[in-house]
Order: sequence, then C-alpha cells, then structure tokens
Amino acid sequence: MPQWTLDDIPWDQFDRSKVCPELVSLVKAASLVEHNGYDYARYLCEVFADDKAFQTVAHQWAEEEVQHGRALRKWAELADPEFDFDKSFKTFTEGYKLPLNVTASVRGSRCGEMIARCIVEIGTSSYYTAIKDYTDEPALQVVAAKIAADEFRHYKLFYTHLQRYLEIEKLSAFQRFKIVLGRVAESEDDELCYAYYAAHRKSADEVYDQKKCAKLYMNNVGKLYHRGHIDRMISMAFKTVGFKPHDLFNRMIGRVAWSVLQMRAKPSRAITA
Ligand SMILES: [Fe+2]
Ligand SMILES: [Fe+2]
Repeated sequence: MPQWTLDDIPWDQFDRSKVCPELVSLVKAASLVEHNGYDYARYLCEVFADDKAFQTVAHQWAEEEVQHGRALRKWAELADPEFDFDKSFKTFTEGYKLPLNVTASVRGSRCGEMIARCIVEIGTSSYYTAIKDYTDEPALQVVAAKIAADEFRHYKLFYTHLQRYLEIEKLSAFQRFKIVLGRVAESEDDELCYAYYAAHRKSADEVYDQKKCAKLYMNNVGKLYHRGHIDRMISMAFKTVGFKPHDLFNRMIGRVAWSVLQMRAKPSRAITA
C-alpha cells in the first residue's frame, strides 16, 4: 500500500499564477513514465522469477510508482486543462515497449538489474527534490516532496536487495561501476524522450525526433538542478558501486557531471511554444 494518497495533496491551494511552463512540460512527461509502473513490475517479476519475496516487493513498488503518475497527472491537468492524458499515454505505450517476456535481466545479471534500479531511483529522488526546490506552486511542492521521499525509499529498497545478490554473484566494484555508467548513459534514452514527445504531440502527423526531444527535455531539466543535487546523486551512486562516497574521485565526477548538465541545458526552441 502506498504511504500517502491523492487526498493528502492540498489541491485547493493550487495557484495558477505560480505555474512555470517548463515544469508543466516535465510533469506531463513524468506522469506517463510513472504510470507505466505495472509493466516494470512485470519485467522485474520475470527477471526474478524464483524470488517470491522480491516479487511481492516489486508489486508494492509498482503501486507507488503508478500513484506518482496519478498525482503528476492531476497536477498537469490542473496546470493545463487541455492536457489529454489518456491520448498521450496511448501514444507513449504504443511507441515505447519495455522488454517483456524475458528470462534474464537486460543488464546481464541480477546484481546488474538491482544496480540499474538503484541508479534510476537515485535519479528520480534527485529529480523530484529539484522540482520541489524549483517550484513556488504549493500543490506541486507537496507532490514533488512526497514522490522524492518515496523514490529515496525505493533506492534503499533496491540497495538492500542488491547486497543480497552481491553475496551470490560477487560483482567487483569495477563491474558495478561499468553498469552504473551504462545506466547513466541511458538517462536520455528513448523512454524519457518518447514520453516527452507523447505528452506534447499535437497531431498524429508530428513525427518523433529523438535528438530534438532529448535536447528540449534536457533544456528544461537543466534549469532545475543545483550543484548540491548533483553531488548528492554522485555520492549515492558511489555508495551503490561500493566506492567511498566522499573522496577526490567523487568530487571530480561531480564537477564533470555539473559541467555536462550546464552545457546540455543551453536553451533551444521549444516544441511546447
Ligand atoms: Fe516514481
Ligand atoms: Fe521509484
């Protein structure tokens, strides 16, 4: 059972004058990805087919992710009454397919799967924290704070199961680091870009352009983050790998990640304009 409901959000305090267009765009896209949580649970249950305890956890986790989607959807509909969630979600799920009917993780091992899940939860925890810090809109502040807390709890959950599988698979820190780099490299993968496209597509004739959507998405995302958000993300990723979270290498990677984010956040023409 999720730890909060949509009734815990102060929707009556929604303030249209404090809505930023860049957040409307990002929240619409996020609502589609989060709403797809049941398919992720299905994939995880296929990868961990003989681990009933983890399957139970995966189903509970999916309920929380889908609830994130519902809360974000509601806020997006308040901010933009013309947002047609059902139509956008149909476009998203028809165009972006998760690898279902698998017998093993696409990450090559069960540890790899847990590490990838940790990285995603680190990313989402930081992302919603950044949204909470960026927005002045009261309802979105509460939605983002509650989701950020859930995502941090999800990170701890997958981290706990990762320790269990590390006992079995014995992946080295270097092998773990390679998986982290691989998952980070996917941060602008088709899922987020396609969700951005599906959320903003104005007609069936509008063709998907991955590079354009990635650029627009990153322009908006880049506005949200402070250096502190990035440093926290790097520290959590280092902990997942098994590196010390506060050494010189950590600071160097933090500096590089911050520079890359600032570079990627340079403005371009928005499809939402
Ligand atoms: Fe989520
Ligand atoms: Fe999560």
